[in-house]
Amino acid sequence: MKILVVGSGGREHALCWKLSQNPKVETILCAPGNGGTATIGENIPIKDDDIPGLVALARDREVDLVVAGPELPLVLGLANALDREGIPCFGPNAYAANLEGSKAFSKNVMHEAGVPTAPFRVFDEHDDAVAFIKSKGTPIVIKADGLAAGKGVVVAATEAEALEALDDMMIKRSFGAAGSRVVIEEALKGEEASFLAFCDGTNYALLPSSQDHKAVGEGDTGPNTGGMGAYSPAPILPEEKYVETAEMCIRPILEHLAARGEPFKGVLYAGLMYTEDGPSVLEYNVRFGDPECQPLLMRLETDLLTIMFACIDGKLDQIDVRSTPQTACGVVMAAKGYPGNYPKGMEISGIDDADAMDGVKVFQAGTRYEEGKTLTSGGRVLCVTALGDDLAAARKKAYQAVEKIHFDNSYHRRDIADKGLKRLG
Ligand code: AMP
Ligand code: GLY
Repeated sequence: MKILVVGSGGREHALCWKLSQNPKVETILCAPGNGGTATIGENIPIKDDDIPGLVALARDREVDLVVAGPELPLVLGLANALDREGIPCFGPNAYAANLEGSKAFSKNVMHEAGVPTAPFRVFDEHDDAVAFIKSKGTPIVIKADGLAAGKGVVVAATEAEALEALDDMMIKRSFGAAGSRVVIEEALKGEEASFLAFCDGTNYALLPSSQDHKAVGEGDTGPNTGGMGAYSPAPILPEEKYVETAEMCIRPILEHLAARGEPFKGVLYAGLMYTEDGPSVLEYNVRFGDPECQPLLMRLETDLLTIMFACIDGKLDQIDVRSTPQTACGVVMAAKGYPGNYPKGMEISGIDDADAMDGVKVFQAGTRYEEGKTLTSGGRVLCVTALGDDLAAARKKAYQAVEKIHFDNSYHRRDIADKGLKRLG
């Protein structure tokens, strides 16, 4: 079998790594890929937003399955375009991908499906939004409706901050058309967790809970990033709560979209906030999280290719999706300066030594492979992931592996999983 994985992050390296474990998989193409995916398959320089290019590649190379890593190609209709060619795609169609592609769509679906979420209003007019912010007071959350590369959400502590965010989105158009409409919602307080499920349109199969670390600095300080580390399970969402949580935030969405004639197939990711009043959904993503994907796939025991085809064929109820009871912890090694400006092109050493450790896998993100060397090419460079019998063991091993890896100007948080350890007592 021939698989095309779309994307270029640590998540996509992990997807290629896991898919390659099935002996039926002969060839893996990755577009555009990174230094890690190059060690598993063939990188093809086509970007994730080039839908015609990706479809042509899948057709010309007679690919049996396309796996979408990031949200952008899904929102742009990759699954629809492949469907017209009769090529299976793992990931939802453009309509269902709006759960991530449009915050207004997503909040309206949550509201109609009865999923707990922060009270909100949608605005197309700047003046109306300003009046609403002034009437509500702060803290308040301003969200650009469309995709904004993870930067479209501002939790404003003061009215001035809220109005500035609104101005950026609606007047200055910092995110282009994505900011012409905004969602304004109540700010929630609490601890966040990620809960992902494979979905086949009707049925779901749960992955264990996980937790990301969005802020760049220790103690959750500094600007938000794509994620500085993740672990699974997250003690705040223990296994005995999985089914009730899925019935709260996964099942209603599947039923609602199916009733609209647009069944959701792929990975549905609920971003949860545990407030004093219980869990509330902050957002949906229509794909694996990065870096949550890395620890989750380290734990997944069931063959990923089988799961993906079961999702596509509506047969998820016929297979058993299992994860090891062990804990996985991933620490992101970034280039100093990220998420602002950072240097590139540094040579990385020690990946093989870290990979040789029992239960350790180094997933590459912002890297490229050139003349026998692995060089940094992005802000998030690696996600060093380890399995252990409990969170303390997994965390310890991940940091031991990090110590084996070197590149100039490297930075990582030293407190990944501390919140989970504290909760475990
Ligand atoms: P989203 O893209 O909607 O997940 O937002 C990104 C991040 O913004 C979340 O992971 C939260 O940290 C934060 N956030 C989003 N909505 C809220 C809210 N209503 N209250 C507090 N923080 C929020
Ligand atoms: N780790 C958060 C995300 O992938 O959106």
